[in-house]
Amino acid sequence: MQGLIAMSSINRSKTRTALITGASAGLGAEFARQLAASVDRLVLVARRTDRLQQLANSLSVECVIMTADLSLPDSVSELVDRLQRDDIEVDYLINNAGIGGPALLHVDDWTEQRQFERLMMSTVAELCGRLIPPMMERGYGRVVNVASVAGRFPSSDTGNYGPSKAYVIALSEELHLAARGSGVNVSALCPGFTHTEFHEVAGMLEAKAAMPQWIWYDADLVVREGLRAVERGRAVQVSGRLYRWLDPLLRSRLLRGLIMSATGTSNRHQ
Ligand SMILES: NC(=O)c1ccc[n+]([C@@H]2O[C@H](COP(=O)([O-])OP(=O)(O)OC[C@H]3O[C@@H](n4cnc5c(N)ncnc54)[C@H](OP(=O)(O)O)[C@@H]3O)[C@@H](O)[C@H]2O)c1
Repeated sequence: MQGLIAMSSINRSKTRTALITGASAGLGAEFARQLAASVDRLVLVARRTDRLQQLANSLSVECVIMTADLSLPDSVSELVDRLQRDDIEVDYLINNAGIGGPALLHVDDWTEQRQFERLMMSTVAELCGRLIPPMMERGYGRVVNVASVAGRFPSSDTGNYGPSKAYVIALSEELHLAARGSGVNVSALCPGFTHTEFHEVAGMLEAKAAMPQWIWYDADLVVREGLRAVERGRAVQVSGRLYRWLDPLLRSRLLRGLIMSATGTSNRHQ
C-alpha cells in the first residue's frame, strides 16, 4: 500500500474516520475537504496515488492513502484487509467512485462491462456489507452512496449507467431500513449535472459545452447537501433545487411517459 501512515499512536476511541472512494477528483475530493472539518482521519481511495497525495497534502487532517482499482474482483477484500491490519475503524463510508461506462448493446468484449458493473454496484454493496455491521455494533455510522438523478428514471441511451445508479438507490433504501435504530444512517445521494472531471473522462466535453449553464451545480453544494441528508437520516437525497423540483415529475407515471416520448429524454452521464 502506497503512502500508508502508521496508526499505532492513535487513540481509537477518540478517532473518527471517513473512508472515501474516488477521492482523487470531483465529488470525492470535495467530500474529503468537507469531512476534514469533522473527522480525525480520512482514508482516501482511488487509482491515482499522486492525486490522492496532492489532496492529502492540502488538508490539515491525518490522511491514509489507499491506492485501489475498485473495478477488480478482490479490491474490496484487499482494502478491508488493509483496514484491519492497520486497526482502522470506519465511521463514515462514502461510496463515490464512478464512471460513465461503456454502452450495453452490441458489446464484443464483456470485460469492460463487467468491470463497470463491479465498480458501480458490487463494490458499493460489498463495502456496505463489510463495513456497516461493525458500525452497527459500535452504535454509530454514516454511509453516503453516491447515485444519480439518472437512476430515478429510464432513458433511451442503452447504457448501464442509469440502471446501475437505480440499483445503488434501491440498495441504500434497503440498508437505510435495515440499519434503522442502530445509530447508523444510510443515504443515497442523487446529483444532477455537476461540475467535476466526470464528463471529461466520459469524452463528453463538447456535449457539456452545449448544455445550458443553469442545469449545472458545483460539487461544493452537492456534497454539503449529501452530508446534511445523511446526518438527518434521509434515505434518498436529490441534490440541487432544480433536480428536486424535477424529481417527482420524472417519477410520476403519467408525466414520465409524456416527457420521455416528447423529448426522448437523455439522462446518461449525470
Ligand atoms: N458529475 C456529475 O454530473 C455526476 C452526476 C451524478 C452522479 N455522479 C456520480 O458522482 C460520483 C463521482 O463522480 P465525479 O462527478 O466526481 O467524477 P470524477 O471527477 O471523474 O471523479 C471520479 C472518481 O472516481 C474514481 N474512480 C473511477 N474509476 C475508479 C476505479 N476503477 N477504482 C477506483 N476509483 C475509481 C476516480 O479516481 P481515479 O481515476 O484516480 O481512480 C475519481 O476519483 C460517481 O459515482 C458519479 O457516477 C456524477
